[in-house]
Order: sequence, then C-alpha cells, then structure tokens
Amino acid sequence: MACFAEIGHDVISVDNDAAKIDALQRGETPIHERHLPELLQRHRNVRLQFSTSVRDAVAASEAVFICVGTPQSQTGEADLSFVEAVASEIAAAISDQKTIIEKSTVPVRTCEGLRKTLLLNGAQAGSFSVVSNPEFLREGTAVSDFLYPDRIVVGVDDEASAAVMQEIYRPLTSGSYYEGTRVVPPSACGLTKARIIVTNAKSAELIKHASNAFLAMKVSFINAVANISESVGADITQVCTGIGSDSRIGPKFLNAGIGYGGSCFPKDVQAFQAVAEQCGYDFGLLTEVMRINIGQRRRFVKKVRSALWTLRGKRLAVLGLAFKGDTDDIRESPAIEIIETLLREGSTVRVYDPAAAEKALRVLPTTGVVFAADPYEAAADSDALLILTEWPEFANLELTRIRTLLKYPIVIDGRNLYEPQQMTEAGLIYHSIGRGVGIPQDMSSVVHGSDREAMLHDSFAVSQAAGGGR
Ligand code: UGA
Repeated sequence: MACFAEIGHDVISVDNDAAKIDALQRGETPIHERHLPELLQRHRNVRLQFSTSVRDAVAASEAVFICVGTPQSQTGEADLSFVEAVASEIAAAISDQKTIIEKSTVPVRTCEGLRKTLLLNGAQAGSFSVVSNPEFLREGTAVSDFLYPDRIVVGVDDEASAAVMQEIYRPLTSGSYYEGTRVVPPSACGLTKARIIVTNAKSAELIKHASNAFLAMKVSFINAVANISESVGADITQVCTGIGSDSRIGPKFLNAGIGYGGSCFPKDVQAFQAVAEQCGYDFGLLTEVMRINIGQRRRFVKKVRSALWTLRGKRLAVLGLAFKGDTDDIRESPAIEIIETLLREGSTVRVYDPAAAEKALRVLPTTGVVFAADPYEAAADSDALLILTEWPEFANLELTRIRTLLKYPIVIDGRNLYEPQQMTEAGLIYHSIGRGVGIPQDMSSVVHGSDREAMLHDSFAVSQAAGGGR
C-alpha cells in the first residue's frame, strides 16, 4: 500500500484489526522493513488513508487488492477462508464497475472461486472483473523489490482489466517513477522501465507457486550438494561460484546453510504439492525439497553436538533468530527450531538478533534463554558461538574480541558468513556448511576422538582450497 502511494495512487488501507489501523494512523511501522518508515511518513494522511471499513473503502475505489493471509491448513493446502470472507464483504459494497485483484498467495483457480463468491454474495455479473496479480517481494527488501521488480505479472481474462492493471503499474513500466527526484534508491539493478507480463488468470496463479517452489528447490539442491562437499573435503562456496557462473543456472539462491524458512517457502511448497495432488499428479520432487530442508536443521544440531562432544550443560551464544537477515520475522525460522532442540538437549542459550528478539521472546521458553544486547554480550563466557541468521552485521564481527570472550574458541556458522581462514587466523575453530572445519595451527591437539580424524582431514581440505591449486 505504501508503494502504490509512492508511485502516485490514492490508497485506502483496510484491516479488521482496529489496533493495527490505529498504530498505522499514529505513524507506527508494524514490521521491520527497509524504506517502509520513510514511505509511511511521506504518504500517511496524504495519499495513504487507513480504515476498518471494507464497505467505505470499496465504494471509494476503482481497484480493490485482496492481500489477506492464506495460512497452511492441516492438510497442507492453503486455507482460503480469509479470502472468501473478505470477498463476501467486498461483494456487498460493489455498486459500480470494480476491478478485484487477488494479491494473496493462492493456488491456481482461486480467481474462479473468487468470482463465484462475489456473485453468490450479491455482486452483479458485469459490475466487476477478477484479476490475479501475484507479488514477488522478499521480506527485508520488499520496498525496492516492488519499485524495481524483475517483472510484474498480471493474470487477466478480459482486455478491460488488462488496461486497468497496465494503468496502475504505468509509473514503473513507463519509467516515469525512476525519473523523479525523491525516489527510493535502486538495489543496483539499473532499471529504467519495469517489465509487465500479461497472462491469463490461471497462468499468473501458477507462476507464483512455481516461482517459490523453484527457488526453494534451488536452496535444497545446493544444501544437498553442500552435504556431499562436506564429506569429500570440497568447498561449497567454490562449487557455487562454478555452478552459478553458468548463465543458465545463475548465482542467486545458491547459498548453502541451515535451510529455508519464513512465511512463504515452507507453506507454498506444501500448498503447491497439494495442488498437484488434486490434479492427480505426484510431484515427488517437492517432497524431496522439503525433506532436504528439514534435514539441514538436524544436521546442524549434529554438527554442534560433534563440535562440543556433549550438549547437556553447555552455554551457547546464538546470533540470529529471524528466518533470514534484515527482517524481524521468526515464522518457520530454522533458528528458532534449532534453539528449541538445543534447549531440549540440555544446553542454555544467550541469543542476540538485531530486530527479532521481541517476537522470539513470545515463542521461546523462558528457562534456558537469555537475550543479549549485542553479539559480544552473547559470546561472553559461552562454550561456543552459533550463527543462525545471515544478518550483514554478523559477517563483520570483531573476531579476536569474540575469541577472548568465548570459553572455548568454537564458532559454528549455519550461514557461511566467513572464510575459514579469517576465523583460524583469529584463533577460532570454525565449522560451517559444505566446507572443511577450519582449525588454527596451534590447536589440532585439542580436537579429540573420532572428530579429530574427520576435522584434520577437513582442515587439510581447507588449507588446500586456500592454497588455490598448489
Ligand atoms: C520469498 C520469495 O523470495 C519472494 O519472491 C516471494 O514474494 C515471497 O517469498 C513470498 O511468497 O511472499 P521471502 O520469504 O521474503 O521471499 O524470503 P527469501 O529471501 O526468498 O528467503 C527464504 C529463505 O530461504 C530464508 O530462510 C533464507 O535464509 C533462505 N535462503 C535464501 C537460503 O538458505 N539460501 C539462499 O541462497 C537464499
């Protein structure tokens, strides 16, 4: 809504949660999202109004975007009851020609259901059209993703709706927005005109689910390769550079780690599989994507256990609670699940996250968890440091300070934020994903048991890799 106001439209934002609307009216930003506070500040009470009345907002508008939640139901399908509920309210308010746009993430054929619901609830045939306009925003970069999109997809079944949608997005597709003096800076994409792809409604719906499932598959694929890389003593970051340089594959979404989380990939892969099942197609590939993803969290806990020998009684510093960097969202966060497992195994944790602590406080157990004010407070006197979220600030820690603060010089990085050599030079034993363990030269004797064999083998692989083909 803030971005539609930013490109010149008058927007009424409706929610049935009066507290949320009040907070927005007071100028409070409800989520941690770069550039959002400044856009709300700029457009609030100018082009951007807030209301709890669907009826008033629909009556005053030409286009109505449905952006309600579509949570996962117990059977894995998307629960469309919120879409249905809001559609029946919209139907009662349609008096002249409206374009009703489905923006929530929904399964293919939702536009059909939406049209039926509108008719059943009293909207006159011919007084509205239904459009699918999936969003491809990532949390944390949502504003720049909206304003500098790779593509805008609109799924329409009539020409008049196509014209409405083209008009809505014209400031981006004509490039006029980018010529303004006060535009949100681009994320280095050099875009001068956005691309719009017009399809039929069902294709647009399918594009959304297929895009998220493909990206999730890319993450699971590289995580599977990382596991092989780890076993044979290769370096997954080098492997990714090699794979990603093929322009048919591309370098994005090839960062190995503890798996994907968030409110989208886990739910959407599952929902897409449910769609396939309803079509009579066994999309087994998606089952594997999910299996690898969950396995990645478990492997990480195993890594912590093997680095520390036993988990009971250990005090662990944990950097990161959010499902990824630059957001305060902890939904389906691998970090939360890993922390819960570590607590169950008898460890205590000192956690730090730049934005997600408040939300994590509501879901994590109260015993065994201490919230620290910064990474160093978390590290102080801890037995090891774990990195679970790819926040940019976690990639720039003062490593020698960390080394002094930790009880044991062990870092276990689930996001590969460092080169192993950086860590070993700072005197830290460094475990990461898909790469050998980095062991400082003077420390090979403190690594014990069967791990030592594996670690020494791996550390040999690290120094070989660092040697660059000698
Ligand atoms: C995702 C899609 O990227 C957006 O295009 C889409 O609009 C959105 O879902 C949605 O459906 O609303 P988002 O959930 O914000 O966006 O997060 P991503 O940046 O895609 O990351 C998802 C997860 O994958 C995170 O846990 C992240 O840490 C992980 N990831 C991502 C990796 O483990 N490796 C990578 O290389 C990339």
